[in-house]
Amino acid sequence: MGCKLPMDGHDLVLCLLLVILSMQVLQVPVVASLRPPAMYVFGDSTLDVGNNNYLPGKNVARANRSHYGIDFPGIPTGRFSNGYNTADYVAKSMGFVSSPPPYLSLLASPSSSLLVLTALTTGVSYASGDAGILDSAVQYFKTTKANMVSTLGSRAVNAMLSRSIFLIGVGSNDMFVFAVTQQAQNRSAAEQQSDVAAFYAGLVSNYSATVTELYKLGARKFAIINVGLVGCVPRVRVLDPAGACADGMNQLAAGFDGALKSLLAGLAPKLPGMVYSLADSFGLTQATFAHPEASGYTNIAGACCGGGRMDAEADCLPESTLCANRGHYLFWDWVHPSQRAAMLSAKAFYDGPPQFTSPISFKQLAHKI
Ligand SMILES: *[C@@H]1O[C@H](CO)[C@@H](O)[C@H](O)[C@H]1NC(C)=O
Ligand SMILES: *[C@@H]1O[C@H](CO)[C@@H](O)[C@H](O)[C@H]1NC(C)=O
Ligand SMILES: *[C@@H]1O[C@H](CO)[C@@H](O)[C@H](O)[C@H]1NC(C)=O
Repeated sequence: MGCKLPMDGHDLVLCLLLVILSMQVLQVPVVASLRPPAMYVFGDSTLDVGNNNYLPGKNVARANRSHYGIDFPGIPTGRFSNGYNTADYVAKSMGFVSSPPPYLSLLASPSSSLLVLTALTTGVSYASGDAGILDSAVQYFKTTKANMVSTLGSRAVNAMLSRSIFLIGVGSNDMFVFAVTQQAQNRSAAEQQSDVAAFYAGLVSNYSATVTELYKLGARKFAIINVGLVGCVPRVRVLDPAGACADGMNQLAAGFDGALKSLLAGLAPKLPGMVYSLADSFGLTQATFAHPEASGYTNIAGACCGGGRMDAEADCLPESTLCANRGHYLFWDWVHPSQRAAMLSAKAFYDGPPQFTSPISFKQLAHKI
């Protein structure tokens, strides 16, 4: 493949890049590969880096206002954090600058080759605040891949995808929606039990379909984050007079996490070449709550930015007052972790204590050949 002049600047960049990429695929040593070729991110607001800024509608969850982003880059980016989020820190730990950019920002770009260029060099984020399991992200990835293939060919694209990381973190919103729906109904204990069983079955079936579809599209390395202590987010805690966690919601999450663990253990042998690391966000948060001071927290119950009791009765708004030290809070707003909490989670998942990832760590996943 050659790059014939004359070409405009952008096409030339794309062309040179494709030459480099095809050399990599043909195993011509260019530079020692220090990081996976790319990362593709699927999930909810804990991983969203701005997709929701591009979604139309009034009821979309957004983090495009002050004080979001106050610590990075100083203005809101659409991350539900005071700074970087978990996707950023997972990406950084694997050698990227930050999370790959939001898919919808690439689509909105006037340059039609930006999506392909980005997808081939760093990856793309399909994470979107409020997302539940599945949604449309896999379809977006399918479109992205079709574009990649028409640029570079399927052999080269499949080769790079097989070494890339597919980061997935989703399920909390499904828990919240289910819990609220259950509360609104007056179900007997037996009915509740069968509702929960049906709920898990639906989630697991969709989760399985998502992973299988991504696998068919070329994904091999899955970094998966389970559902955390949803009953302990400030917005839920504040509903209790004493500010206690909602045990029922945590049990709901724990049950799903158990089902997710079994699902992955069962799926991997059926999908040759699939490798995964399942990160235990639930267990990590429990461990952190047991010894908050060990992680440098002075407040693990309330929000840094919000309003009312525990600063957990209102969303983080431009007029909200902030806590004195953002690094001392586990929660940035009434639902989302602070930048520091995101950093500590990613660190634990990458190469922290072995009990927080199974069967291998994110680091081992990234380096696995
Ligand atoms: C956030 O996005 C919404 C929807 O596009 C827009 O109406 C609003 O003005 C934005 N807020 C800021 C502070 O940019
Ligand atoms: C809920 O159902 C129980 C038994 O079926 C009944 O006694 C109770 O009054 C109901 N409560 C509400 C709030 O409807
Ligand atoms: C599973 O996916 C189907 C099809 O997209 C959707 O209709 C259903 O609501 C999903 N179920 C759950 C529990 O997410």
